[in-house]
Amino acid sequence: MVKKKIKTAVFISGKGSNLKNLIKFSKSKNSPITVNLIFSNNKHAKGLLYGYKHKIEKKVFSFKNIKITEKKILNILFKKEIKLICLAGFMKLLSKNFIEKFNGKIINIHPSLLPRFKGLDTHRRVLQSKENFSGCTVHYVSSKLDSGKIIIQKKIKIKKKDTVRSLQKRILKEEHKIYPKAIIKILN
Ligand code: GRF
Repeated sequence: MVKKKIKTAVFISGKGSNLKNLIKFSKSKNSPITVNLIFSNNKHAKGLLYGYKHKIEKKVFSFKNIKITEKKILNILFKKEIKLICLAGFMKLLSKNFIEKFNGKIINIHPSLLPRFKGLDTHRRVLQSKENFSGCTVHYVSSKLDSGKIIIQKKIKIKKKDTVRSLQKRILKEEHKIYPKAIIKILN
């Protein structure tokens, strides 16, 4: 029997390389998801272009009034029967109410070994504190920033010559590997 694919929405704010990667993954044979919607709080997000390219519906909300915006988003998610939300570089914090009301799973990717180095400017802070390792984490979303149960983590060794850029590049590559793995893990 063919298993029904889980309808997924991806939330972005910027470049969208994780979105691009998730779309690619969704089209692979063993993917349990389809990417049906893209939400952005930023109308200039480069990642929205992948929506055009792959004919995936896009929605942009300014999030000026979070309560009203979240209500609108929830309505769309219910109507479209979305059961998984993947946050991918989404720069807004979702409310406790939104998380509780959404009838499905919400996951996020963060470029550090959580619970260490939550928040922004991660790689710079990691280098400044002279860490030997960094990495990336996919976790369930709770109303606290970059918290919530960890699903999967990838650790990498920091090289002496690493810069913010080189570290970011290397970790992003790993992000693209673990995000699909995390989805398979939670949906199988
Ligand atoms: C990634 O490093 C992700 O871990 C973080 O924001 C960045 C988004 O990159 N939350 P992209 O927009 O997916 O290229």
